[in-house]
Amino acid sequence: MHILITGGAGYIGSHFVLQLTEAGHSAIVYDSLATGFDWTVPEGSLRRGDLADQDLLDSVMAEERFDAVVHFAANLIVPESVEEPLKYYRNNAMNTLGLLEVCAGRGVERLIFSSSAAVYGSPADSPIGEGAPIAPINPYGASKAMSERMIMDQAAVSGLRYVILRYFNVAGAEAQGRLGQNTAKATHLIQVACQAAMGRRAGLQVFGSDYPTRDGTCIRDYLHVDDLARAHIDSLGYLAAGGASQVFNCGYGHGASVLDVVETVKRVSAADFPVEMAERRVGDPAELVADNSKIRSLLDWTPRHDDLEFIVTTALNWERGKRTAG
Ligand code: UFG
Repeated sequence: MHILITGGAGYIGSHFVLQLTEAGHSAIVYDSLATGFDWTVPEGSLRRGDLADQDLLDSVMAEERFDAVVHFAANLIVPESVEEPLKYYRNNAMNTLGLLEVCAGRGVERLIFSSSAAVYGSPADSPIGEGAPIAPINPYGASKAMSERMIMDQAAVSGLRYVILRYFNVAGAEAQGRLGQNTAKATHLIQVACQAAMGRRAGLQVFGSDYPTRDGTCIRDYLHVDDLARAHIDSLGYLAAGGASQVFNCGYGHGASVLDVVETVKRVSAADFPVEMAERRVGDPAELVADNSKIRSLLDWTPRHDDLEFIVTTALNWERGKRTAG
């Protein structure tokens, strides 16, 4: 298959592109490099451009025939979305609209979309099934919910079929250490904790210790990035085989608290670092854990790295390599 990937030079996108090309398919990556890196994608595959530039995107799509589009490009930091909501509505929701227009013009028939557990807001039930109410509590989640809705409505009146993957908390680095998270300003818990363990940060703040959870800190379903990338490969195969449009949760189905993560990072790194209990962060739900029965049964998706220790080990190795590389 020949696949167009928006945001393919980013963290999750680059892991997907690696698996895709290793499986014998070909990739064209459309990425602005605002947060991505050209060295993460195969030589010759990058078309540098902003998703907001519909003419440029259209010219890339006009050059070749693509079997599917995989749409990763987005801003994804929850607290930033609270402070700069319009950035998220423009870059996530409006750019998805623009992509859908270009896809419609070029007759694209298959789309995989990176959505998020953030569309559920603070769900009443845990684990959460795909049928739970869509009720985002921050602009990031709202921008993903709007994008989902546009994709569904467009698919209803065109030849487009889609798989929407609602990611839970993605972390870790490629199992062989070839790729990882390169974000300059880390905000995600596992990366922050790894940097604290390496002495690159003075310590770590726990945002809220009075949540109604077993230890008072937030619970998340941490998922290894290679397993998530594989869910996209499986989704492509599913659509290629004629599968109907679907929404899937993508997580392991069990959660770890912030304190569990801190303890795991300390143990795996054999390093201690200061941990301070701090105020809750705006926009954080207490618990987000996936009911993953649907993706397991319809896509036959089988996680290979469902192990917090492994996730943390790969994240730590990647952080250490970055230091060596300067
Ligand atoms: N946390 C801390 N200290 C830190 C960083 C994070 O206590 O220094 C806490 C957060 O408050 C939260 C948990 O660790 O309770 C996880 O926070 P992250 O920032 O790592 O991730 P989020 O859960 O906020 O968001 C991530 C993705 C979203 C996605 C969501 C789905 O960024 O795109 O997971 O669960 F929607």
